Amino acid sequence: MPRYGNFNILFIGTFTFILCCTLTLMVNINSITKTCKLDDTDKEHNIMNSKYRGPDLIIIILSAPINVKKRQLIRNTWTKLYGRKQNNLEQTFIVKYYFVIGNFGLDVHIKKQMTDEQMTNKDLLILPILDDYKNITYKVKQTFQWLSDQYDYGMDFKYVLKCDDDSFVHLKSLVGELIEIEKLYLSPPSLKSVIEVLKYSSAETMSANIQANNKDGPNKLNLYWGYFYGNARIFTKGKWKETEWIFSDRYMPYALGGGYLLSKNLVTYIGKNAENLRTFNAEDVSVGFWLAPVDNILRIHDTRFDTEWKSRGCQNQHLIVHHVSPEEMLQYYKNVEENVAASFGGSSWMKNNYLFCYSL
Ligand SMILES: *[C@@H]1O[C@H](CO)[C@@H](O)[C@H](O)[C@H]1NC(C)=O
Repeated sequence: MPRYGNFNILFIGTFTFILCCTLTLMVNINSITKTCKLDDTDKEHNIMNSKYRGPDLIIIILSAPINVKKRQLIRNTWTKLYGRKQNNLEQTFIVKYYFVIGNFGLDVHIKKQMTDEQMTNKDLLILPILDDYKNITYKVKQTFQWLSDQYDYGMDFKYVLKCDDDSFVHLKSLVGELIEIEKLYLSPPSLKSVIEVLKYSSAETMSANIQANNKDGPNKLNLYWGYFYGNARIFTKGKWKETEWIFSDRYMPYALGGGYLLSKNLVTYIGKNAENLRTFNAEDVSVGFWLAPVDNILRIHDTRFDTEWKSRGCQNQHLIVHHVSPEEMLQYYKNVEENVAASFGGSSWMKNNYLFCYSL
């Protein structure tokens, strides 16, 4: 395990926000030539549903053009498990998801297929980039640029969850936890109070690390939540090898890419500075690196993010599972669905330690 067992406050040097660039990331089903504006007049291009207020959480699901079936499976499984109930958190904490796909150089018939898919579902964020795993960091950058662009146009959101199209997200539990974290840790009267709460909290699945210059004053903390590697050596082999990493002999702490959550400020920080940020092979490594010097970050390492290469086994309390096969996706969905009916009655479902049986 990385050095995340201890709770440290690190004083960091000041850093400068680099000049914000005006971006012209566009949304369009064929090619991206037009900025998404928040009005209803432009139905074809507008995938941000402006009829509703801004989502609290935006989920960006990285997906390849040909993964039509995987996207449909996600539409039919875990995304459906949220937002159905009236008069509770699911109605007040709005979640919206987008599949992010690059359309550069695609076959005409695949483009056509994507257009149809978009017409039906309106959940594709199509970027004018080459969709290749070697370009994945670029894809994440462009997505964050797009998100910060939307923010400038008035689409507010609080958090962004990045995952893949083989991730299963247990949304209800995740949102329940997120709201607890927000309440307890993100707007503390002082950092000392956060430390106190974290120290005595019973969450044995979490450990945390705050970087903040101002230890005494009130700090609004930004969340970076996932399963962290804090001490990883540079990959020299395999799909994610970094041939151009000459910065240090270890990576900066980073949350594994199968699922990590960022506060809006961190997303817009990356989005606005994207053109000046170094792009490494692995997107999760890059995000960790980009955020290393940023002030007022609460990093939470959470073992309920089952996002390591090899699963730690299906556990009820897992919030996100990565590398899920289509069969498992369906099975997890069914298990959760069945338990929803059986166990959701009172108001206790939001509790931290709510255990969910979705084992195979
Ligand atoms: C990533 O996509 C951009 C835009 O399509 C392209 O210019 C660039 O060559 C791609 N990079 C890689 C490594 O594929």
